Amino acid sequence: MNAHPKNHPAKTPDQLRSARYFAHDDLRSFGHRSRLRQMGYAPEDWVGKPVIGIINTWSDFNPCHGHFKDRVEDVKRGVLQAGGFPLELPVHSASETFLKPTSMLYRNFLAMEVEEGIRAHPIDGAVLMGGCDKSTPALLMGATSAGVPAIYLPAGPMLRGNWKGKTLGSGSDAWKFWDERRAGNIDETAWGEIEGGIARSFGHCMTMGTASTMTAIAEAIGMTLSGASSVPAADAGHNRMAAACGRRIVEMVWEDLTPDRIQTRKAYENAITVAMAMGCSTNAIIHLIAQARRAGVDIGLDDFDKASRLVPVIANVRPSGDAYLMEDFYFAGGLPALMGRLTGHLHLDALTVTGRTVGENIAGATVYNDDVIRTVENPIYAEGALAVLRGNLAPDGCVIKPSACAPHLRVHTGPALVFDDYPSMKAAIDDEDLDVTPDHVLVLRNAGPLGGPGMPEWGMLPIPRKLIKQGVRDMLRISDSRMSGTSYGACILHVAPESYVGGPLALLRTGDLVSVDVPNRRIDMQVDEAELAARRAALVPPPPHYERGYGWMFSRHIKQAHEGCDFDFLETSFGAPVGEPSIY
Ligand code: FES
Repeated sequence: MNAHPKNHPAKTPDQLRSARYFAHDDLRSFGHRSRLRQMGYAPEDWVGKPVIGIINTWSDFNPCHGHFKDRVEDVKRGVLQAGGFPLELPVHSASETFLKPTSMLYRNFLAMEVEEGIRAHPIDGAVLMGGCDKSTPALLMGATSAGVPAIYLPAGPMLRGNWKGKTLGSGSDAWKFWDERRAGNIDETAWGEIEGGIARSFGHCMTMGTASTMTAIAEAIGMTLSGASSVPAADAGHNRMAAACGRRIVEMVWEDLTPDRIQTRKAYENAITVAMAMGCSTNAIIHLIAQARRAGVDIGLDDFDKASRLVPVIANVRPSGDAYLMEDFYFAGGLPALMGRLTGHLHLDALTVTGRTVGENIAGATVYNDDVIRTVENPIYAEGALAVLRGNLAPDGCVIKPSACAPHLRVHTGPALVFDDYPSMKAAIDDEDLDVTPDHVLVLRNAGPLGGPGMPEWGMLPIPRKLIKQGVRDMLRISDSRMSGTSYGACILHVAPESYVGGPLALLRTGDLVSVDVPNRRIDMQVDEAELAARRAALVPPPPHYERGYGWMFSRHIKQAHEGCDFDFLETSFGAPVGEPSIY
């Protein structure tokens, strides 16, 4: 095994990718050098130095990355300290907040931009600046496919929200107080105060949503500095961590520490373990499968279900936990401390961007608050961060987060109330005359990768207003969409194959009985085979969403949820490795 940097041949300056652009006595190199001089650089800035591309997802449209415009200067400082040459490359921000119909439509768009941006420019190593939900998997997918040394710089969680002395958590408290507003318990003034207090600084959502999950996963895979994912965005430690990323990536270039040497099957198994212990977002499944396939590692739904049965949820962070947020998690010791409690479940010999192993990184990590980071003997949930269900309603699987749903709904049979699309659900759900009881199973279809399109986060279907007023706060809900990692409730998601392509969810009718049994991992509709065959024969395919542009390409190449929703032509297994571009 030759994975450790000490056992790997170091690079020499003439072996740098950038040397092909700058080091030759020919017309092309003259052109490249003269344009560096145009920017005010002199040969002292670049000769014999690795060019570090800083891939920056800053945008006015992304409040989670609001500090990246300044933070990039810390990265540059670190690169210069270590003898590198930093150049910034802005890319799409994948803003969860403002992108419609959903940022998921653009995850692969950003991944392609990152891959091609790195490959086409004279970049020897890359610092990847991201954090808002889809930006993390997209940056890692693109950099993995590009193949140059890369280090991930997580945006860090924003400060805790606050309303009249009460802590507010991103997303989770928005859903909770919105239900109270719909029930008439929150007036306009209070609603405005909550709006002003729930997001108090730059940084990503500070609950254990998709952003916190994916940045923790990036660290668990070994693609960040140890402890980096837990540092709050507004903490001065974040500036220092950014500079450290700049210093480290220069060393990684000389060590030729490429993503394929880090992102092994062991690394992905570590990521799944950590995701389970964190009480992760359901979105982690889709992104991790896609990331792993880019690295040539074949993981699937069953790997998550298996880990879910073995690894307890020990991070007491909302929404799985009941009180704490990511800032508390940081002060309790952060991710190294949590991983230190999971050593029996981790591959401690997996290599990381630090040049050290996971075991070396977390040696000596200490938990400072046993209520925030529990022991495996005293977990939040003994098992059940995620569960994968299968049955005649979801032959290729679907997902539920048992740790965030009402216990009585984990085994349930009830009549379906089916909505064909999001607008018809939205129009009906607040109708006081809606024929619905707490035992009903709410179903939304045509909300998957193709049907959404882009698999929007619609899966936490609102509880009907008339039931909210009766005090109902959870119901069984099923869809082929996703839900935000900050969401909660008995929501069954990612039903595959999706209804838009004729999956069994398309055959379900209002009034059919649906049975869910989480302990036995089953989901079935109680409709006999002959009736299902008749309904299947009568199905009419829906019209396409797009006739041109990116959406057209997306529609033709997107894979289903259980396969990670990457484009078929981007997976490593699709074909031979991509070569370097000609620069002549
Ligand atoms: Fe950016 Fe939640 S909106 S992480």
